[in-house]
Amino acid sequence: MIRLRCAPGPEATTEVWIGARLGAELRRGVEQLGAGRPVVALVDPAVPATDHGLIAPDWRRIELAGGEATKSFTTLESVLRQLAAWHLDRRTVLVVIGGGTLGDLGGLAASLFLRGVDSVQVPTTLLAMLDSSVGGKTALNLPEGKNLVGTFWPPRLMVADVALCSTLPTEHLRSGLAEAIKMGLGFDPRLFALLEREPARILAGDPLLLEEVVTMAVRDKIAVVEADPLETRGQRRCLNLGHTLGHALEAHSGYTLLHGHAVAQGLHFALEVGVARGAMAMDEAARAHRLLEAYGFARAPLPGPEPLLEYFSRDKKMQDGALQFVVPTGIGSCESAAIRPAELTKQLVAG
Ligand SMILES: NC(=O)c1ccc[n+]([C@@H]2O[C@H](COP(=O)([O-])OP(=O)(O)OC[C@H]3O[C@@H](n4cnc5c(N)ncnc54)[C@H](O)[C@@H]3O)[C@@H](O)[C@H]2O)c1
Ligand SMILES: [Zn+2]
Repeated sequence: MIRLRCAPGPEATTEVWIGARLGAELRRGVEQLGAGRPVVALVDPAVPATDHGLIAPDWRRIELAGGEATKSFTTLESVLRQLAAWHLDRRTVLVVIGGGTLGDLGGLAASLFLRGVDSVQVPTTLLAMLDSSVGGKTALNLPEGKNLVGTFWPPRLMVADVALCSTLPTEHLRSGLAEAIKMGLGFDPRLFALLEREPARILAGDPLLLEEVVTMAVRDKIAVVEADPLETRGQRRCLNLGHTLGHALEAHSGYTLLHGHAVAQGLHFALEVGVARGAMAMDEAARAHRLLEAYGFARAPLPGPEPLLEYFSRDKKMQDGALQFVVPTGIGSCESAAIRPAELTKQLVAG
C-alpha cells in the first residue's frame, strides 16, 4: 500500500492510501480516527462494498445510488435527516463509498451536519480515485448548472482500492483514464509515458498498472492543491485543462456524455489551440492526440460553434470578457491564458 499525504493547511490534512484490496486497512484507518466514534457508511449500491470488506458490522449504513441526479438538495436533505434521526453527535465519521457523485454529495453532507463532521472518502471509480477524492471540493448541482453549490471539506482519510475497478463498466474506466491523460499531458511526462507504453493492459484494468497510474496522478494533484488550496492563486486552475470545451460538451449533451469522454474531446481541442497560438510544438501535440486515440478517444465532430460559445460565456471563471483557458505548452506542462471566446470560436470552426 502506498501512503501519501495532502496537507494544504494545518487544519486540512488528508491521509491518502492507494493499493488493491484495502478493506481491512480502511476499517482499521477509520478505527484509528478515534475509538467508539459512531460511523456511518454512505454507500452506492452498485458497489459490492460488503464483498470487498469495506463496511464494518457495527457501522450504520445509508444507501444512495450514484449518478449526477444524486447531487441535489433533495438527496442532501435526506442524508442529513437520516443522520439527525439517529441522534448522532459531532464525533460521527461519515465514510463515503462511491464514485465522484457520491463523494461530492457525501463530502458536502459531512461539512454541513452539526457544522461539520469528519469524512473518509472511499472512491470506487477510477475518476474519483485519481481526481475528485483529492482536494476537498464538495458539490451539488442546480438546475442552472453543475457544481454551483459546495464547500471545501477535505476528508481525514482517502482510501483508493483499485480492486474496485474490476466491476466498473469500461466506459467509466475510460472516463477516469481521460483524466489521467489530462494529468500526464498537463503536469507529468512520466505518467504520460506510462500511459503511452501500456494502453492495452491499462484498458484491461491491470491492478498493478492502475495502482501506478492512480499514485502518479494523485501525487501530481496533491502538489497542485498544496500550492493553491482554495483556487485563488491560479495553479489549481490548470487542473481545468480540457475542461472548458469538456464542460460545454457535457452541458450540450444534457449530461448524457460522460465527464472524462467530454474532457478527452476538450484535450484534443486544447492541443489545437496550443498549436495555433504557438505555445505547443506540433510533434508533441501529435503525440498527445495519438495517446487519446489509443484510449478510444478519436477526435469527434463538434456541435456548431454557437451553442458552445454560449456555454463558454457562462463559464464560472470568466473575467472581463475573457476566459481562463488552459493551454498545453509541452508534454507535462500547461499554462492558463486569458482568451476571448471569439478566438476559441475561430479555432472551433478551423478545427
Ligand atoms: N470534487 C472534485 O474535485 C471533483 C473532481 C472531478 C469530478 N467531480 C465530480 O465527480 C462526478 C463524476 O464521478 P464518477 O465518474 O465517479 O461518477 P459516478 O459517481 O456517477 O459513478 C459512475 C457510475 O459507476 C457506478 N459505480 C461506481 N463505482 C462502481 C464500481 N466499483 N463498480 C460498478 N459500478 C460502480 C455508479 O453507480 C455510477 O453509475 C461528477 O459529478 C463530477 O462533477 C468532482
Ligand atoms: Zn474533470
